[in-house]
Amino acid sequence: MLRTHDCGALRLSDKGEQVTLAGWVQRSRDLGGMTFIDLRDRYGITQLVFNMETNAALCEKGRELGREYVIQVQGVVAERSNKNPNMPTGDIEIIVGSFEVLNASKVPPFTIEDNTDGGDELRMQYRYLDLRRNVVRRNMELRHRMALETRNHLSGLGFMEIETPFLIKSTPEGARDFVVPSRMNPGEFYALPQSPQTFKQLLMISGFDRYFQIVRCFRDEDLRADRQPEFTQIDCEMSFVDREDVLSTFEGLAYHLFRAVKGVEVNTFDRMTWHDAMRLYGTDKPDLRFGMELKDLASLAKGHGFQVFDTAEMVAGIVVPGAAGYTRKQVDELTDWVRRPQIGAKGLVYVRVNDDGSLKSSVDKFYTAEVLKSWAEAAGANPGDLMLIMAGDIEPTRKALGELRLEMGNRLKLRDPNVFKPLWVVDFPLLEWDEESQRFFAMHHPFTAPIAEDMELLNTEPGKVRANAYDMVINGVEIGGGSIRIHNRELQQKMFSALGFTPEEAREQFGFLLGAFEYGAPPHGGIAFGFDRWCSLFGGSESIRDFIAFPKNNHGRDVMINAPANISPEQLSELRIATLNDEE
Ligand code: AMO
Repeated sequence: MLRTHDCGALRLSDKGEQVTLAGWVQRSRDLGGMTFIDLRDRYGITQLVFNMETNAALCEKGRELGREYVIQVQGVVAERSNKNPNMPTGDIEIIVGSFEVLNASKVPPFTIEDNTDGGDELRMQYRYLDLRRNVVRRNMELRHRMALETRNHLSGLGFMEIETPFLIKSTPEGARDFVVPSRMNPGEFYALPQSPQTFKQLLMISGFDRYFQIVRCFRDEDLRADRQPEFTQIDCEMSFVDREDVLSTFEGLAYHLFRAVKGVEVNTFDRMTWHDAMRLYGTDKPDLRFGMELKDLASLAKGHGFQVFDTAEMVAGIVVPGAAGYTRKQVDELTDWVRRPQIGAKGLVYVRVNDDGSLKSSVDKFYTAEVLKSWAEAAGANPGDLMLIMAGDIEPTRKALGELRLEMGNRLKLRDPNVFKPLWVVDFPLLEWDEESQRFFAMHHPFTAPIAEDMELLNTEPGKVRANAYDMVINGVEIGGGSIRIHNRELQQKMFSALGFTPEEAREQFGFLLGAFEYGAPPHGGIAFGFDRWCSLFGGSESIRDFIAFPKNNHGRDVMINAPANISPEQLSELRIATLNDEE
């Protein structure tokens, strides 16, 4: 070993000991007679001292060490005269007897500090340097602990981790596939899995009965803070279970992770139907750390001559507690905020409930004080509160109000990252109608079972069938989703036909699964969690990139290795793929 201790290990009790450390030069301070160097590794920082009086030559050499040089140092542990109570090693320093430069370093393109001067792109380009920073390293440590605790917990419950292939045929999960050409089968392509969905179901048919896998998934979709083209799932499946069994098993996993990784006791999960979530919060992933539910005002607001409300499918609002003091300018700014394309609202109406109970609104022209009062009463607005109201078609209005609710939650600091409100959203619609293609799509995926009592509706009103599906939502983040599956060939075929597949298409794409259902498929169900999202939730960040060692940027690029990139004409011809130029 090139070291006797790491840079976070030594304490006052080690005083007088001869030690060897190795690490990176974090910073160097030259105070005339003395030179101090902070030596860093993954475990901490230890102060090194070079003394001009006792060893001038060594001190001169020490002064030449630049930031991020890798050095090995021999010395004696001494008590510091100037102790630093903020550092675990802050009571000691090493009086350097000798050192060796193991490798020099160019000046790094940004400072390796918690508050670095490097911008996003630059840090992505030099991700190996960014990973040296405490904040990023700690995120990786959190991820490691999450994976370890997940494996231990699930193994303890009899779950087996089984790997499933990456080179597969496309699974219809809703996003586009990344495809890989096959040299040995010219003109044919593998797809990278969007999830191991069909394989984990086949494992149930094989009798493995409790499966999990911490597994990479690939989806060619538009990227956002919580979406990467390759991401990791904790993918799980169980046999001989109903919905309650799955929910209680994975509530258990959540409680365990909260306790073991966050040191937080969380003991309850709320439960809400998809319809209630949409109606009350305007989203299928509500943040329950604060109230501010959407209030329906249509019956009170229509029929008073205000065209915008009279012609709208929906008129609804939220009550922002204690915000009656918002100035006209602040409300105008909020109106601009909801009009941005990302939110897409046409406008915003306000009703201010003043401290003396009087009301002031932006629609005073159309409504009497009595009517406005009835709105305040219906919505539960008290003196000092501000009502913000929107109108339009149901879906976009709900969505916009849901976004506004989150924004107001942020502004009022109601979204405390140290408070956790887990929730199961249940009873999703099985199918979603797509106007453009005039067909139904599966809201989760085609393998989700309908709720038994809605089965008949599949023949008559498919849009009304509820799915035996559930999402785990924590603080407004969709952490995971799953369902009880169809395990019967006839029902699966019926489902494919409701989704517009001809029997031939269904056989062509899913013959293997339909066939497997004929050999004793047990009832089964499961769930998959977005592992990166769960890490970022625990780490208090909105961006999953911070919790992935080598993430892609928003254009799906790895700017460090510069991928994707062209491949040579030889490679292309070996794969029998016409070059772009040939096609033009
Ligand atoms: P679903 O598609 O809902 O379900 O995915 C499960 C969870 O994976 C996470 N997730 C993502 N995380 C980061 N980047 C992405 N691009 C991304 N896409 C999804 C989310 C989501 O809740 N096979 C089913 C699960 C099942 O039915 O068991 C599936 O993949 O947190």
